[in-house]
Amino acid sequence: MSYSVLIVEDEPVLARNMLVYLERHGLICQTASSGEEGLDALEASRPDAVVLDYNLPGKDGLSVLRLMREREPQLPVVMATGHGSEGIAVEAMKAGAFDYLIKPVSLHQLKQVLDRAVQQQRQALELRHLRAGGGVSGAPAVQGLSALLGGSPAMRKLRARLQQLVDAETRLNEGHAPAVLIGGETGTGKELVARALHFEGPRRNGPFVEINCASLPAQLVESELFGHERGAFTDARERRIGLVEAAHGGTLFLDEVGELELATQAKLLKLLEDHQVRRLGSVREQKVDVRVLAATNRPLEAMVQSGQFRGDLFYRLGMLRIELPPLRERDGDVAELAQAFLARSARRYGKTGLRFSEEALDALSRHRWPGNVRELGNLVEQCVILCAEPVIEVEDLPLPVAPASEFGALDFPASDNLPTSLPETERRLLLSALERNRWNVTQAARALGISRDTLRYRIDKFGLRP
Ligand SMILES: Nc1ncnc2c1ncn2[C@@H]1O[C@H](COP(=O)(O)OP(=O)(O)OP(=O)(O)O)[C@@H](O)[C@H]1O
Ligand SMILES: [Mg+2]
Repeated sequence: MSYSVLIVEDEPVLARNMLVYLERHGLICQTASSGEEGLDALEASRPDAVVLDYNLPGKDGLSVLRLMREREPQLPVVMATGHGSEGIAVEAMKAGAFDYLIKPVSLHQLKQVLDRAVQQQRQALELRHLRAGGGVSGAPAVQGLSALLGGSPAMRKLRARLQQLVDAETRLNEGHAPAVLIGGETGTGKELVARALHFEGPRRNGPFVEINCASLPAQLVESELFGHERGAFTDARERRIGLVEAAHGGTLFLDEVGELELATQAKLLKLLEDHQVRRLGSVREQKVDVRVLAATNRPLEAMVQSGQFRGDLFYRLGMLRIELPPLRERDGDVAELAQAFLARSARRYGKTGLRFSEEALDALSRHRWPGNVRELGNLVEQCVILCAEPVIEVEDLPLPVAPASEFGALDFPASDNLPTSLPETERRLLLSALERNRWNVTQAARALGISRDTLRYRIDKFGLRP
């Protein structure tokens, strides 16, 4: 999937770093070094997505974001923050950013976020194609239960449970199949499970419509989800069906459902209770036949307790629950997945005969994998790109040199000693990686998954010293 990206970033090294990486991956990029320049470029070249730095000379990133959203409400904007606190990321999401990334930006992650943004955007624009056959460009080739690899007892149990759900739905001859709530840490495969439930089930020929709840700008939620009639509001020149109606006959997947605002939660509750929607500006309710799946990595029960999530919606969404185990609790799966990913990446990069040494597989199995399967997949891809020899040894793994558990703990600090600001988190992470690698910048950069230049830059920025 190729598309164009505008990078608004005033730090030339970082801007170039992103540009080179993204272009190498087939995207068409241009850069702008201030918000004003970015807004002009937006007008002139209409990119498919924007990467926007927060800390810019002149207008700050948030103001630029708001202006961009005003001019191009459909355009996905990914915000890069690092100089501010967590509040900025939250503000950015509220202002309609598709997502935010924390500097130092992992380039692989950036590409993934952009892919997702553009894909979601295209899906929303081409709903009719979705109806045609379920095949969405860029989606994984295998989408059924067999896409969920892993022979561990935990994964076998999971697949058996999913098969039961599919069977039950197939036998259902009246009423609506209850919603399924898919929980689990980041990167454990929640989206994969949602796709498996859809593509194995009786609705497989209907649409699979995915909504990332975190990316829904509050002011657009209602018309995005439920559609609108012509003239419903000033800009509504045409009638438009919402994403919920677009999922008619198929599955509506509410990803990151824990991020929904309370007002939107109330509207969704109505859908789950009555299976009806009303377009903005319409007086008629419309029946819709959708199976609802939802995913979250947040503790929804606790959020219900604290009033952040509606109890009634939680009850409706969680009639059936699937909990994905973290990768570290899947005995034997790390080695199996690593080898499967190695074969897949090797094919993609045209390298043959690659394999991990026994010691390397051991080291991988000992790592804590706070980012779970996604982290493993990314690491294997890095190995494939960087390796010079067919046998990948422990030294070739971009894993922290120190015992994995310690590093993992720092990577995702326990909530009680969580630093309050992003810069502080970043500073500690950098320092820890440097100390563990005895201030060898190359090794530390590798462990962090960033380039040496980027790390040097961060070291200066934070004034880090041995
Ligand atoms: N059991 C598995 N077998 C093969 N690949 C997997 C498995 N689980 C996850 N993956 C892969 O790992 C990556 C992350 O999975 P996925 O996007 O489904 O995670 P997630 O739980 O939705 O994460 P997040 O909470 O961050 O959205 C994807 O590339 C997915 O294909
Ligand atoms: Mg997901």
